[in-house]
Amino acid sequence: MTREWCWIFKISVHSKMMKIGILGSGSMGSGIAQVAATAGHEVLLYDNNPAALDRAKNKLLKILNRQVEKGRMDDRTAKAIFGRVYFVDDMLDFAGAGLVIEAIIEDLGIKKSVFGQLEDITGKGCILATNTSSLSIAAIAAACEKPGRVIGIHFFNPAPLMKLVEVIPAIQTDEAIVKQSRELIESWGKLVVLAKDTPGFIVNRVARPFYGEALRIYEEGIADVPTIDWAMKEIAGFRMGPFTLMDFIGNDVNYKVTKTVFEAFYYDPRYKPAFTQKRLSDAGWLGRKTGRGYYDYSENAKTPEPNKDQNLGKLIADRIVAMLINEAADALYMNIASRDDIDLAMAKGVNYPKGLLKWADELGIETCVERMDALYHEYLEDRYRCSPLLRRMARDKKTFYK
Ligand SMILES: NC(=O)c1ccc[n+]([C@@H]2O[C@H](COP(=O)([O-])OP(=O)(O)OC[C@H]3O[C@@H](n4cnc5c(N)ncnc54)[C@H](O)[C@@H]3O)[C@@H](O)[C@H]2O)c1
Repeated sequence: MTREWCWIFKISVHSKMMKIGILGSGSMGSGIAQVAATAGHEVLLYDNNPAALDRAKNKLLKILNRQVEKGRMDDRTAKAIFGRVYFVDDMLDFAGAGLVIEAIIEDLGIKKSVFGQLEDITGKGCILATNTSSLSIAAIAAACEKPGRVIGIHFFNPAPLMKLVEVIPAIQTDEAIVKQSRELIESWGKLVVLAKDTPGFIVNRVARPFYGEALRIYEEGIADVPTIDWAMKEIAGFRMGPFTLMDFIGNDVNYKVTKTVFEAFYYDPRYKPAFTQKRLSDAGWLGRKTGRGYYDYSENAKTPEPNKDQNLGKLIADRIVAMLINEAADALYMNIASRDDIDLAMAKGVNYPKGLLKWADELGIETCVERMDALYHEYLEDRYRCSPLLRRMARDKKTFYK
């Protein structure tokens, strides 16, 4: 499939489905465009950087061609999907869209200014969504005269592969917009969970101890990086150890999310970033993308061996899992999301071995409380405070699931 051929094909494509506008054609915008076009929508993809738009076009072509080569998609389908994506050079083209998803730089001032413009360009019925990972949806919505149609629709990276989408109404969002957004994204084959407009929503909040507690264990010298990774993979059952995962995500990106969540929670010590992560970020050891992070990715580098002491491994796994469960329980306690959505988000969205609340039941709520209390008594730090919900449940002999 060539680019010229696709333009010819594009003219013959006509869809009666709602048009989707996507603002920003970087990692997220281009992926979301692919998802919406695959679901049958005509997509208007805009970026204020023409080079980024061109990169997105080439990337989509490459992905679709690869799908055809691997026999996962027939040529006609690939051409139809590509034909539905319009790479536009003016935001005014969003005029006929039923939904616009913004996926530009994570900067509140810029996002607010763009939402003000979107309100003027689009029709009154158009849903205005932001894919922000960490900013307040209410603050973005407040940039509009009619904030009721603004909502958070948070995809994960890479959007075509990750099943989970968090839908986040702002306090100003109309109920009908929540329902419409949810139904639409579900019709794209995604698993939708509803989250409160609070820092990190569900996943980026509940997952913090996976990295933070691993870093703490490392900084205290309890175990080294490969041993902590081995324990979380082989004993706790995660697909990847925390350091391997941080190297994948990028230590700059992960550090920024941690710092943003910490600040947004008014410096709650539970979310305090680690110096180790900051130093790696300072040094430019960003992970796989720079060839060096917690591990060395150069050609002849040796993979360091973990210490496979079972007792040490269990100590590490139990501690991190207890912190994760505590965070999930506290998210439920603070009404960030429902029990089912919290478990779905972590198990299906970021591939945890099981839902954390289900895990709590399996371990026993009392055991979870004991583990948190043991850490608290050891360190006397607020970071290790047990969620009141777990404590009450242990007292009342309750479980999350019947
Ligand atoms: N990368 C992730 O893992 C991830 C996951 C979920 C959500 N997000 C969120 O999605 C958003 C986009 O992230 P990304 O990783 O795709 O970023 P990116 O840097 O890959 O892409 C952003 C794009 O927006 C364009 N842009 C910047 N300002 C613009 C403007 N005013 N008008 C039009 N285009 C503009 C840039 O040219 C760039 O192409 C951010 O809010 C981020 O927090 C990112």
